[in-house]
Amino acid sequence: MAWDFASMGTAELDAAIKGLEAEVEGLKAKGISLDMARGKPSTGQVDLSRPLLDVLNADSNLTDEGADAANYGVPWGIPGAKRLMADIMGCPEDQVVVAGASSLNIQFDCLVHAWVRGIRGEAPWGSLARVAFLCPSPGYDRHFAMTEHFGIENIPVPMDDDGPRMDVIEELVKDPAVKGMWAVPKYQNPTGITFSDDVVRRIARLEPAAPDFRVFWDNAYAVHDLYEEGDELLEIFGAIEDEGGRDLVFEFASTSKITFPGAGIAAVAASPADLSDLEETFAIERVCSDKMNMLRHARYLPDLAAVRAHMAREAEVLRPRFEVVVEKLEEGLAGVEGCSWGNPRGGYFVSFRGPDGSAKAIVALCREVGVTLTPAGATWPGGADPRDRDLRIAPSYPTLEELSQAIDVFCACARLVCARLAREGRR
Ligand SMILES: Cc1ncc(COP(=O)(O)O)c(C=O)c1O
Repeated sequence: MAWDFASMGTAELDAAIKGLEAEVEGLKAKGISLDMARGKPSTGQVDLSRPLLDVLNADSNLTDEGADAANYGVPWGIPGAKRLMADIMGCPEDQVVVAGASSLNIQFDCLVHAWVRGIRGEAPWGSLARVAFLCPSPGYDRHFAMTEHFGIENIPVPMDDDGPRMDVIEELVKDPAVKGMWAVPKYQNPTGITFSDDVVRRIARLEPAAPDFRVFWDNAYAVHDLYEEGDELLEIFGAIEDEGGRDLVFEFASTSKITFPGAGIAAVAASPADLSDLEETFAIERVCSDKMNMLRHARYLPDLAAVRAHMAREAEVLRPRFEVVVEKLEEGLAGVEGCSWGNPRGGYFVSFRGPDGSAKAIVALCREVGVTLTPAGATWPGGADPRDRDLRIAPSYPTLEELSQAIDVFCACARLVCARLAREGRR
């Protein structure tokens, strides 16, 4: 059934609204209670990493290529862990520091470094009257919350199908108060798109007015392909070299969505000069990180082939969930004017865009029926989506049956909201 509200006569539209209201009331009576708000792995996925827990025991050799994991020292990560994270990011191993279990922690640390001490001898950002960050939107809410926490001005930049709109970025970086930019270059959270080679090259040749401008390149979904043939992301440090080389990017990754969320290992990569600069702050913060966890990860995932094999097993759990979301959206919202959604080949999210003014109403209606979605606006700086139209669907955690039911609810609510908006447009 096509839901082409725009081409219906007014009486037909009123009748359609009545029918859709009855459908939503029927769903409310079912007593559904489903939480689709956050993109965390399902238990089945996390269970795939249980063998990691058996890698070390009381008899294990606790050294890695001569580095002692059982004591202080080796502050920037044992060799096997550095190699693993370099392989995941696709960058040189000597540009990597492995530190702790969370890439968001390291991103925060880098902001603290810039804020308190300043990057490479530039004035600490905390001493400046105005500091701004570019925020491709929709984007990751926790990124925007982090810069907001420091009092940094978040400037939204439109996201296109091939990455953030570069014309806008190239203009905005002419302002010396613009000190950085958030970027999730592969399977972006939430759109699922991967930056094209052209976008990566344009980022690599940016000439920001601020010498301490840095792109926070959060490669959180670097190996998170749903299909054997995943999206290809041009490696950023190589692209920067091709453009003549400059200190422009802090890259981040973790194994949160490879092994155990919050209990994996995390890393930052940067140019050699930037890395030594960051290390001066990191060295104040810690003597060294948890190297036992690094050792377990390095032994469990000894090379990229092992990572790929593990991620293929993860994909088997995730792929049907993504496919059911996309199939149900196609089935339930085909032809509804203003509705579109992604069909990502990896990552953790499906992004939905409705007509202007629809997102909050869809979330509220879904909640009435018993389905909790990520709040409308969450993917925009300050939680404010100027056109109130973007929503993030997180398919990973619910079971297939729950997901299927939740997307049916979503479609029914979205249809009703869109029909009502079409009707209002005629008054
Ligand atoms: C883009 C992005 N970065 C970072 C994270 C969290 O990473 P970590 O657990 O390493 O802090 C997430 C989790 O959803 C994410 O989507």
